Amino acid sequence: EYFKERGHRIIPSSSLIPKDDPTLLFTTAGMVQFKPMFAGTVRLDYTRAATVQKCFRTSDLERVGKTKRHCTFFEMLGNFSFGDYFKKEAIEYAWEYSTKVVGFPVEDVWVSIFENDDEAFDIWKGHIGVPERKIVRLGREDNFWGPAGDSGACGPCSELYLDRGPAFGCGSPDCRPGCDCERFLEFWNLVFNQFYQDETGKQTPLPRTGIDTGMGLERLACIFQGVNSLFEVDTVRKILDHICRIAGIQYKDNEKKDISIRVITDHIRATTFLICDGVLPSNEGRGYVLRRLLRRAARHGKLLGCNRPFLYEVADTVIANYGEAYPNLVEKRDLIKRVIRLEEERFIETIDAGLEILGNLINKHRAEGALPGEDVFRLYDTFGFPLDLTREIL
Ligand code: ALA
Repeated sequence: EYFKERGHRIIPSSSLIPKDDPTLLFTTAGMVQFKPMFAGTVRLDYTRAATVQKCFRTSDLERVGKTKRHCTFFEMLGNFSFGDYFKKEAIEYAWEYSTKVVGFPVEDVWVSIFENDDEAFDIWKGHIGVPERKIVRLGREDNFWGPAGDSGACGPCSELYLDRGPAFGCGSPDCRPGCDCERFLEFWNLVFNQFYQDETGKQTPLPRTGIDTGMGLERLACIFQGVNSLFEVDTVRKILDHICRIAGIQYKDNEKKDISIRVITDHIRATTFLICDGVLPSNEGRGYVLRRLLRRAARHGKLLGCNRPFLYEVADTVIANYGEAYPNLVEKRDLIKRVIRLEEERFIETIDAGLEILGNLINKHRAEGALPGEDVFRLYDTFGFPLDLTREIL
């Protein structure tokens, strides 16, 4: 509503499979569907847009489950300008929205800017009135974004953070946005698109500058719902509870099991959406990513004592949560559940076959007290038997 009133066209979320973009496996940000508009190769009858975009990223895959804030699937809120407004308005909107609409106390909002972006500094300080000590300059790693994929628009960015107070902090006098502790929670990234980066990494100024912003819906929900974990957000928690019911266990009883519960929660949410958007399990590309997630979830299910297919049942809770916003999920319920179930059944067969082979190998090498790496590799590569399972059994 806020952005609609300010002339933005509300555009539906695009598919998790980017259209006509061979440089990108998945939709990783709200701006992906607008890449041609930013690059200037396509022009539409609107120059301002706002979306809630479903996104999928595997960059944090290894951390999913181990922490309470990493995930592969999430929804990104964003407002965009294609050659229309630039830094000043983008900063004004973000500030007004954060402090007036969302209602964060002015004194709790901090910002970061790209190290040499004096223009952004002047807007934050002179125009908005944020005190200098709350404007932190950060380097390329933190405050330069893009491109999504091998080429596309990119530029310096400015982030908004919520200071959750010293109780969340590390206690260091230097603690501020950019610190590794949990005190300053980044909730919104404003990207000032002003360059085009080609496949060789060369950047040239864009003829028309643009704005690309991203705010994590789940992160915002954490703040609103007063919880300190993505997995405690109401919708996500329902998925987690369903898994616990099937496994007959309680969340927060045992840290090792909690990791498995979180992995399954994330992965079933992601895979339900991926299948809905047309990805099918296979041994390469997108299908391989899907297969890996499903097998990983099934494997963690086994750790929780679920020895029969169960993920396909949890998909019902994902669909119940998101079916209203994404009606496709409801339409494709049968397909989604069938694909998941089939993959679970195949995984169980793989495990059974692998257990037998591994048993024989263990007998053969018992005297040495170790398995040759070659055998361990073959178990994984040829028979699809997960390395962590081999390790655990050994
Ligand atoms: N595209 C920017 C991001 O993903 C907003 O953070």
